[in-house]
Amino acid sequence: MYLPAEDTFLLIRGLDSYNNLGKVLEIGLGSGKVAELINERSEFYVGCDINFNVLKEFKTKNVFNLKIDLVCCDSASCFRSLSFDTIIFNPPYLPSESIEDITIDGGYEGCEVTIAFLKNSFRLLKVNGLIFFIASTLSNLSKITSFLKENNFSYEEILREKFLFEHIILYKCMKLA
Ligand SMILES: C[S@@+](CC[C@H](N)C(=O)[O-])C[C@H]1O[C@@H](n2cnc3c(N)ncnc32)[C@H](O)[C@@H]1O
Repeated sequence: MYLPAEDTFLLIRGLDSYNNLGKVLEIGLGSGKVAELINERSEFYVGCDINFNVLKEFKTKNVFNLKIDLVCCDSASCFRSLSFDTIIFNPPYLPSESIEDITIDGGYEGCEVTIAFLKNSFRLLKVNGLIFFIASTLSNLSKITSFLKENNFSYEEILREKFLFEHIILYKCMKLA
């Protein structure tokens, strides 16, 4: 289980000024900290994770009885296209030879899991929807931004924070007309 960390709180802070997020999907729910704080500004909130145990634990500990739908799947592959107004994620992003710890290992250049999440987000996002995601300067950022451009998405850095040897960035993306 990934305990809420600097990247979790950067994502929460960045979403703070958005009052109506509509139908929200969070890919990689983890502890559910983001969901706990953001869910009241959504029409409905779906949290998915590849790890069934974190979803089970969230359900058991959901003391506030939050209305969050939980789905266990890989990179949100199970949802129908054009379903969400807002898609958010704080993916595993550390460069790693292989994926051993699914909470932090992001693939060889640290961006492979992020790109898999983005691929599904492009398919699932409604017209005029927004994607917010965390990335790190430890991973290959130019590969991520090129992928966004190739898919006709605009991107903007809305928050950036230095943390030990990396900068953590919150990106906001939308489909260009
Ligand atoms: C860095 S943690 C973030 C957790 C939480 N959202 C937060 O911000 O604290 C990444 C989460 O993504 C999940 N994850 C990793 N690979 C995944 C995949 N292929 N599909 C769905 N979830 C995945 C992990 O199980 C973990 O809960």
